[in-house]
Amino acid sequence: MCGIVGYTGKQRAAPLILEGLKRLEYRGYDSAGIAVPAADGFHVTKKIGRVANLEVETNRHKVAGNYGIGHTRWATHGGVTQENAHPHVSSDGAIVLIHNGVIENYTSIKKFLLGRGYTFKSETDTEALCNLIAYHYAKEPKAAADGESRLLESVRKTLLHVEGTYGIVVMGIDTPGELVCARKGSPLILGIGDGENLVASDVAAIVSRTQNVVYLKDGELARHTPASFSLSTVNEGDIKAVIDQVTWSIADAELGTHAHFMEKEIFEQPTALENTMRGRFSEDGSTAQFGGLNLSAAEFRQIDRFMFCACGTAWHACLVTEHLIERFARVPVEVDYASEFRYRNAPLHSNTLFFVMSQSGETIDTLAALREAKRKGYRVLAVNNVVGSTIAREADGGIYQHVGPEVGVASTKAFTSQLLIGAMMALYIGRMRDMSFSDGAAYVNALKAAPNLVREVLKQAPAIRKIAERFAQYSDMLFLGRLSLFPIALEGALKLKEISYIHAEGYPAAEMKHGPIALISEQCPSVFLVTKGEMFAKVVSSMQEVKARKGLIIAICTEGLELPAGLADELITIPDCDEAVLPIVATIPVQLLSYYIAVIRECDVDKPRNLAKSVTVE
Ligand code: AGP
Repeated sequence: MCGIVGYTGKQRAAPLILEGLKRLEYRGYDSAGIAVPAADGFHVTKKIGRVANLEVETNRHKVAGNYGIGHTRWATHGGVTQENAHPHVSSDGAIVLIHNGVIENYTSIKKFLLGRGYTFKSETDTEALCNLIAYHYAKEPKAAADGESRLLESVRKTLLHVEGTYGIVVMGIDTPGELVCARKGSPLILGIGDGENLVASDVAAIVSRTQNVVYLKDGELARHTPASFSLSTVNEGDIKAVIDQVTWSIADAELGTHAHFMEKEIFEQPTALENTMRGRFSEDGSTAQFGGLNLSAAEFRQIDRFMFCACGTAWHACLVTEHLIERFARVPVEVDYASEFRYRNAPLHSNTLFFVMSQSGETIDTLAALREAKRKGYRVLAVNNVVGSTIAREADGGIYQHVGPEVGVASTKAFTSQLLIGAMMALYIGRMRDMSFSDGAAYVNALKAAPNLVREVLKQAPAIRKIAERFAQYSDMLFLGRLSLFPIALEGALKLKEISYIHAEGYPAAEMKHGPIALISEQCPSVFLVTKGEMFAKVVSSMQEVKARKGLIIAICTEGLELPAGLADELITIPDCDEAVLPIVATIPVQLLSYYIAVIRECDVDKPRNLAKSVTVE
């Protein structure tokens, strides 16, 4: 959601902070701001809209200074105005701060501070935090007797009185070169450089300067100077830092020859799938193996039920996984929205293994579901792409997706990688039960074929673009599929609405006649995902019902299936493939269709309105 960047070192801070903010724009934004030291306090620049607007303003003033902080805001408390944008400066001018998260007790803090002469300019909860740090800063002796930083001490004292979530970076008027950071429920990553140190809410903002990072944990504080950094906790003294290495480079997060990150990531899928399965098949080629489950085969065998929680696209991946595990391993699976699970106090079977899926590993509802399940004593595993994310760290074990950074807000390569992991889990669990060696070996071969099948479908991009041209101006669309392709219908509808702002709904095809059929007309086209096997005839009947009501049809259909003549207005043929990989292969046309429709409508594909890449507030 909001993005944070901080720098202290020898370079001019502003251009580095602006570069970092641009790399965070995909996480959501509506305004941006920057603060660097000036002769008489802090030079603060804020602008509504894009970081590019802020850059023009910052360059106009030729802002100097070798340390500073910057922020992209996604509004929670208070509208999108310049006053509400970050950084915020305390009313005495002593403290400047950027904040991600929500301060729940800000009204009582504000009341306390108003009584002590502090004033407020914005409608934000953040300003209360800023002024409270200033209050403690003013009371701290300028040179702390024990050598402790005055700024760090005032932040620590403040946080003892704060309820809510935060990732903050703070600068003080009398503490040059120093940044104090703290985290509770909102990600912060320290970048450890050579003669310079950085902090950001996302690795993407700092990886161009250093690959040495420290993932701050909840309750931890960090103090950066250009030459040093230290870690402590809110309640205690110094702690030892573990420095991790980022495994990808800045080139992985760059557009290259592509027009948008979404396009780049759609076309990266064959390689992403290869990376997801690399080293994850047994030597005898009959099952999957996962290194990080932290659960022996014997323990896994005891599980007689699985529960999956996730949000958005990852929730769709869980639905496909449910279908595949139940189909191939014959073990019951339940799937819930993480946001619902966390509050509905669902009764769970005792031998349940809990899974969460999250590309970012920072989605607050998914994290809360994980914590709730752990609180109830369940072991929780995570399927997650971002190494070192909060979910990855708090889970008891899990499976990394290994697809590299996903920058486009609309999830694409992370989704198909989750589908692949779901299919591999069905194999792994199935082989522990009744799936034979030869069935397992055939299944492994089917999975290994997935990258090339996806390559085949990608070759149809120009033809799908032509179809998109015909359908780009409609304002409603239905996506219909059955069994494992029903979640792909949901995903197709989500992709279309999030990037092109066309109203779209996904349904199991047979459910259409229980309501959505009322929408069918010449003005509301349908995308049918046509399933082979026993469901084929039934999906064709649903298509006939649409045709009878003058609805236009785009059919996504496997090779070899014969649709009645004239039934589909547009046909996209996908290669015939095994059931385990069909959802992956069928996803590609719906991604391309949504992408091209959004491009034709001139929508901002990578930064759709109101959306954030990872939703870190409730
Ligand atoms: C995907 O296109 C969406 N932008 C969104 O639904 C996303 O999948 C959801 O917010 C969950 O994110 P996560 O996988 O990072 O937890």
